[in-house]
Amino acid sequence: MDMEKLVSLCKRRGFIFPSSEIYGGINGFWDYGPLGVELKNNIKQAWWQDMVRNPPPGPDGEEVTMVGLDCSIIMNPKVWEASGHVGGFADPMVDCKKCKGRFRADKVYVRIYAPDPASVLQAMVATAVPFTCEAESLEEAEQLLQAKFEKRVKKKAVSRDLLPTATFKLSEVSPALKSVPWPCPKEECADSTMTEPRQFNLMFKTYVGAIEDPSSIAYLRPETAQGIFVNFKNVLDSSRVKLPFGIAQIGKAFRNEINPRNYTFRSREFEQMEIEFFCHPAESMKWYRYWRDVRKAWYTRLGIKSDKLRPREQGKEELAHYSIGTTDIEYLFPFSDEPQELEGVAHRGCYDLSQHQKFSGRDMGYFDDVAWERDKSSRGMNSFKEWLKTNPPPTEIERYQFIPHVVEPSAGADRFTLAVLCEAYAEDEIGGEKRTVMRFHPRLAPIKAAVLPLVNKDGMPEKAQALYRELKQEWNVYYDDGGAVGRRYRRQDEAGTPFCITIDGQTSQDGTVTLRNRDDCVQVRIPLAAVAEELRKRLKG
Ligand code: GAP
Repeated sequence: MDMEKLVSLCKRRGFIFPSSEIYGGINGFWDYGPLGVELKNNIKQAWWQDMVRNPPPGPDGEEVTMVGLDCSIIMNPKVWEASGHVGGFADPMVDCKKCKGRFRADKVYVRIYAPDPASVLQAMVATAVPFTCEAESLEEAEQLLQAKFEKRVKKKAVSRDLLPTATFKLSEVSPALKSVPWPCPKEECADSTMTEPRQFNLMFKTYVGAIEDPSSIAYLRPETAQGIFVNFKNVLDSSRVKLPFGIAQIGKAFRNEINPRNYTFRSREFEQMEIEFFCHPAESMKWYRYWRDVRKAWYTRLGIKSDKLRPREQGKEELAHYSIGTTDIEYLFPFSDEPQELEGVAHRGCYDLSQHQKFSGRDMGYFDDVAWERDKSSRGMNSFKEWLKTNPPPTEIERYQFIPHVVEPSAGADRFTLAVLCEAYAEDEIGGEKRTVMRFHPRLAPIKAAVLPLVNKDGMPEKAQALYRELKQEWNVYYDDGGAVGRRYRRQDEAGTPFCITIDGQTSQDGTVTLRNRDDCVQVRIPLAAVAEELRKRLKG
């Protein structure tokens, strides 16, 4: 699938627009148009319904308890000190000295061509020529670097006899190669060099209140997760939930990405759908596996083909500082040879609650009264406090009193919206005529049905209007009486509308209408009075 065609359809049909486009746009920010906002809302509603209100049964067939939150975007800056974001939420960055372009050093790949590549790895030699490129994967980088080399050979700027070293990320080159004058990855200023990598904090800063001084600095949240952790006790005290349980939140997050790219995939403002699932440490691996499987199955259920979806366990060297284990659920987007992260399912241990306990001085522990009530007679005690006085070993105390462990499935609403758009896009031929069709899962389709009077006379518009008014009480439906019916069908195909209902001459004779299916264009006649019921059945998906 050609990304350019999708981007153009998204603009033309009102799925996604560049933000503030009339002023030249702003890199890394996007607006959702009339169809896009319906699609993204359907995605968020499906997530909330399937994960928060009605999650699948737990690993042992039990009910899974979930509650929701909606926290503020700006929080006390101490939250971000405790979470590690002030100190550590940074990407290595390099600048081109000529074009002033900024690049993530872990997305810039480098390779040296030299008569003897082995000697170059010890020290840079005069006959060696360094090459760089920006890429999402090693495979892509190797192709780009070789293409750049070939181009320079053609221009007779380098000798064809030179051989390549291995390919490295700029952030990972050995100390011996740190001072190499790496050229800018942009073709047009390949004669310029870049600065050495330095850390760049990704949080957006702002000031709260009228005075702009260091005491009023605050941050736009870079993840929704921390709002959940700092409210852990509030939720426990107000909603009578007991471990294990999860807290979910959908909301905006902001990251001053060095290099936003690949359409909405890496943006500076985006929405997350996050769950923090709190459980006893001894049960955490069981819940980690549960959420990893539940989350992968959810994407498949909503139409993502399994050959494009893969769960990938992160290697030890990739893990975030808080994580004991993380599985990325990845999707093969058309802009990359390698599957890219849609969601991370992370085992965060007790890192976050412990940090907030340390920084706030508030107790973030949990007392499992159900377990204590069950065991107290075998402990020969009525009161937990009295039992503590007998100095039981810490491993025994932890059965009842502990800082919960957390499993975090953290998904990007915009990334999944992009995956849904990529997956849905298709071109086919109907009756010798080419069409573009968005094959959205019916649950996600922005418009569920279009109501079309065949012609604007003979009582057809009146019947169509009445049906439209009935259906729109339940779904987002569209009324279209403009132009030939074939063209109206094509417009709905491009919007991804699963069903078109046409009121024609036969309707006034026998009370039936045609129901056209988007994917195979098959039309069936059904009674006008049965349309709502039929849609209800078919939209369940
Ligand atoms: N609380 C954990 C956390 O935020 P993350 O892997 O940094 O983990 C989770 O982000 C998800 O948020 C990602 O899997 C992705 O879907 C989405 N996401 C992260 N950065 C993004 C960006 N710059 N643009 C769009 N989505 C992003």
